Amino acid sequence: MLERHWAHAWMRPVAAHTVASFEQYLERLQQARERLVLDAGCGTGDSSRQLARQFPDSLVVGVDQSAYRLRRQRQEKDPENLLLIRADLQDFWRLLHDAGFRLQRHFIFYPNPWPKKMHLQRRWHGHPVFPWLLALGGELELRSNWSLYVDEFAHALKKLGIAVRTEQARATGVSPFESKYALSGQTLYRLRADLRATAIPVPGPKVFPVADHRAD
Ligand SMILES: C[S@@+](CC[C@H](N)C(=O)[O-])C[C@H]1O[C@@H](n2cnc3c(N)ncnc32)[C@H](O)[C@@H]1O
Repeated sequence: MLERHWAHAWMRPVAAHTVASFEQYLERLQQARERLVLDAGCGTGDSSRQLARQFPDSLVVGVDQSAYRLRRQRQEKDPENLLLIRADLQDFWRLLHDAGFRLQRHFIFYPNPWPKKMHLQRRWHGHPVFPWLLALGGELELRSNWSLYVDEFAHALKKLGIAVRTEQARATGVSPFESKYALSGQTLYRLRADLRATAIPVPGPKVFPVADHRAD
């Protein structure tokens, strides 16, 4: 599975609306170039708000494709160092990478598990965007209630020679999904990897063609 990521160039066009979101925030992102914390698949953005408080000197960027989820808690006064962006990560990760950004920290809290075997390619480590996700560098943290997801992700990193720490996680209530799983007594898992000194090549062109359809 992993070899396939680098065997062929991935040419999926970037959606025009993600390019538009990216360009809208580009200046703000550039101002925080060395201090970017990404909360990928942030849902309602609750976790991003917590991260913004935890890393007051960084810009915390929460990205989710769901306008509905992002809107749900907007009434709260948001920290100044928080940016919530509606975008498809398949495109956003590539745009960020190709604009030369590298992350300070990268959080992926409770990604959709895609538990059926036939959907393996939709789990982030099985997805063609995986090389870009890694190439963004930084200190990466993944949490899931599904040990297989974390084990597979760890396996992929180890095959690339990247040291990984996995463990059962204590619930911190960092996100709605974490709280939900903890309340129902589920075991939580955490993976951490330091990608700051790792150079990961990406198998795709620097400038992506833009599609004008909505991808979601
Ligand atoms: C299971 S929820 C977890 C939400 C949040 N991280 C939490 O822990 O409460 C997964 C989130 O990933 C988002 N997501 C899935 N695929 C995405 C994609 N390609 N681009 C952006 N967001 C995506 C979904 O919209 C959803 O909000």
